[in-house]
Amino acid sequence: MSIQKPKGTQDLLPGEVEKWQYLENKARELCQRFNYKEIRSPIFEETELFIRGVGETTDIVGKEMYTFLDKGNRSMTLRPEGTAGVVRAYVENKLYGIPDLTKLYYVGPMFRYEQPQAGRYRQFHQFGIEAFGSVDPSIDAEVIALGYTFYKEIGLKEVTVEINSVGTPSVRAAYREQLQAFFAPVKDQMCKDCQIRYERNPMRLLDCKIDQKFGEGAPDILEFLDEECRTHFDQVKEHLTAMEIPFRINPRLVRGLDYYTHTAFEYKAAGIGAIDTIGGGGRYNGLVEQIGGHGNDQPGVGLGLGLERILLVLQAQGVEIPKPDPLDVYLIGLGEAAEKEVTKLLHQLRVQGIKAEKDYQGRKMKAQMKSADRFQATYVAILGDDELARGEITLKKMDTGAQLTVSLVDIGSNAAKTLFQ
Ligand code: HAM
Repeated sequence: MSIQKPKGTQDLLPGEVEKWQYLENKARELCQRFNYKEIRSPIFEETELFIRGVGETTDIVGKEMYTFLDKGNRSMTLRPEGTAGVVRAYVENKLYGIPDLTKLYYVGPMFRYEQPQAGRYRQFHQFGIEAFGSVDPSIDAEVIALGYTFYKEIGLKEVTVEINSVGTPSVRAAYREQLQAFFAPVKDQMCKDCQIRYERNPMRLLDCKIDQKFGEGAPDILEFLDEECRTHFDQVKEHLTAMEIPFRINPRLVRGLDYYTHTAFEYKAAGIGAIDTIGGGGRYNGLVEQIGGHGNDQPGVGLGLGLERILLVLQAQGVEIPKPDPLDVYLIGLGEAAEKEVTKLLHQLRVQGIKAEKDYQGRKMKAQMKSADRFQATYVAILGDDELARGEITLKKMDTGAQLTVSLVDIGSNAAKTLFQ
């Protein structure tokens, strides 16, 4: 049997990959406007990083990591998310020593051993940002605004921003106790996963699709917030309102990663079956210290947007992604001498920045014309022996059929002028 791609992965082929390039270019361009700089950290890290960073009680660390021993017997893991690696790089490279706020972004593959379904893959891609060094609520709002602007600018319709505050560890400890007390009477009726969550991470009980009914009437974390948490949350909301970013408060929003403090948020959109979360993030004030060691207590806030999910929603909403420009010229040489000249001219055009192509399969002129059509070439340039002798070439504009003859020297030295003026 022939070898097939691993379950939950995709081959991104020409025709599809242009959409990815479009999204990635948009992400980079947007980050420039918001003054975020790119960081590229390794795709695999020491397993310990994710255990410490993402949290032992999470599904990601408990069930979904691609972990392996390398040849030196070290436990390594393909990154299941981007934040932990960026925090590690931030600490290791002492980026906190740089005077201005460190604002970073990344685009790349992440790996989670999940049950594949529409919008859920084992290798997927995130566009993420992380901003370190500030507790100012305006940076939480900026991060939320950047994600929202990204979705809007690529044409996504009806994206909802949901926000919550998950407080500080001490706020959560009190809340957790109350949640356990609330769920205690129904504990034995809950699914197996929830029985474990009940002990280890009761906030995740609110997130279970199966046991949703048991959560009705459960206490809200917002009622447990202390003064500091409430003020921070209020200010984030004020900044969002000032920027005219619409949002909905969802006190049940708990993220699947353990590192969040204060602000947590998600972007939702319909169109991928059962899944409606297309991106999420939040603040993580204790994470740098947790990963970097004592004395490294820089705050942070960030987001991760799944690119596969964006493409699925765009498709479901019928939003077209702009196609890259087609070929400028398709060159056809008729006869041996003309074909040689075509090879030379093709190179001259490409060096001048013109998108040009020719046939490499010895096909007849008719087949070559069809090929030019498939590439949607603006011009077909035909060179026969007679024209070659005169030092000229015939250009045919494919949309109008208009023809013109130009000097080989002219087009070879200033193609843009000959073709586009
Ligand atoms: P996350 O919510 O685990 O957050 O993932 C962010 C996004 O990645 C999801 O909303 C979804 O679009 C996409 N995603 C996650 N898992 C899959 C999957 N199996 N298949 C396809 N897409 C998926 C984080 O990863 C955090 N690091 C975000 C963050 C950055 N928080 C602060 N900074």
